[in-house]
Amino acid sequence: MSDLRHELLLEPDIVYLNHGSFGATPRPVFQVYQAWQLRMERQPVRFITQELFPALKRAREVLGAYLGAPVDDLVYIPNATFGLNLVARSLALHPGDEILTTDHEYGACNNVWQYVAEKTGASYIHQPIALPVTTAEEIVEQLWAGVNERTRVIYLSHITSPTALIMPVEAICRRAREAGIITVIDGAHAPGQIDLNLEAMAPDFYFGNCHKWLMSPKGAGFLYARPERQAMIEPLVVGWGWGRQRDLSFGSDFLDYTQYLGTNDLSAYLAVPAAVEFQTTHDWPAQRARCHALARQAMERIAELTGLPPIYPDIRFQPPGGDHHNFDKWSNPGHLPEVTFYQQMASAPLPIQKDLKSFKARLYDRHRVEVPCVQWQDRQFVRISIQAYNSEEDVDALLAALADELR
Ligand SMILES: Cc1ncc(COP(=O)(O)O)c(C=O)c1O
Repeated sequence: MSDLRHELLLEPDIVYLNHGSFGATPRPVFQVYQAWQLRMERQPVRFITQELFPALKRAREVLGAYLGAPVDDLVYIPNATFGLNLVARSLALHPGDEILTTDHEYGACNNVWQYVAEKTGASYIHQPIALPVTTAEEIVEQLWAGVNERTRVIYLSHITSPTALIMPVEAICRRAREAGIITVIDGAHAPGQIDLNLEAMAPDFYFGNCHKWLMSPKGAGFLYARPERQAMIEPLVVGWGWGRQRDLSFGSDFLDYTQYLGTNDLSAYLAVPAAVEFQTTHDWPAQRARCHALARQAMERIAELTGLPPIYPDIRFQPPGGDHHNFDKWSNPGHLPEVTFYQQMASAPLPIQKDLKSFKARLYDRHRVEVPCVQWQDRQFVRISIQAYNSEEDVDALLAALADELR
């Protein structure tokens, strides 16, 4: 068992391999969250009028330092879905404009763009990114094949949901900036899983979640907007932060329109510094490296079980009946590609199941393994998430469950 499992509130008899859908929060972080809630309840007027906003500013400072973003270019929001709504519904799009994306995006976010496209007369274009991926350059070229003079926005996930691919967003943002195309990056899975420096990446807009891989309590996301683009953001909810005379101001329209949306419990935001501290005190670079190695090992074992080739180039794979020469080549670390396209979350192809939902349900009901099975185009994957509380026994349990159910 991982040393950190006892720090989590997860039920002990569950093999939890779906941190990617809904992250689990460690007990010390959850205690800080509840302490903020208690503090609010003991004197609500004093808390909300005097204590909340300085605490919120401190929480933004900590998150800004963590993400490499200046504190005033960053706001807390409830979640990634909210962040995309803020951005997409603010952009002045016109009939004929195009929003370019990949065919690996998250369903709710596709809905947001489709809604905006139908309202404005713009088109939402999905550019295919082929599997297995090979190089970052090739991904950029595949996306760029969809750019034309009508492309106003490029939107994509930093780490994709169904295929858990780390996308070369730095190169895409650079090229888009040169072409005058607005970039909107969905970082739902990035903070906590990979290092970020948003100022250096320089997307126009980047939103993400703290409640996945940073392990904060649920309901903590963020939106970063480059200073030159902040004036584009409209209030999704009009409240005290709008109008000429503002009783409540955080110093810019961008912050005023987004930070206080009426009375609410913002304790999840205030607990983000505790989540950052939890990772600092538990040597997160080492945790991540261990989790990545375990994710890679799981990919290799699943490929061996199913005989299906992995979607990432650095996974060792021997095709069924394949020649050993080929396997030897892949076994030699010197031949492995240097870049890796996944970190702690990874998707492995599954033999096609007629009823994928009941296959997934059986993994849980019969084997107590919580893991998502996803349909992507005409393919199916099992997507595993390895967080610091996971161990090799969890991967063993998954492999045993898959072997049993695929038999
Ligand atoms: C790529 C991606 N974007 C956005 C979201 C939405 O996150 P939330 O439900 O926290 O808004 C998810 C959720 O898993 C996701 O995978």
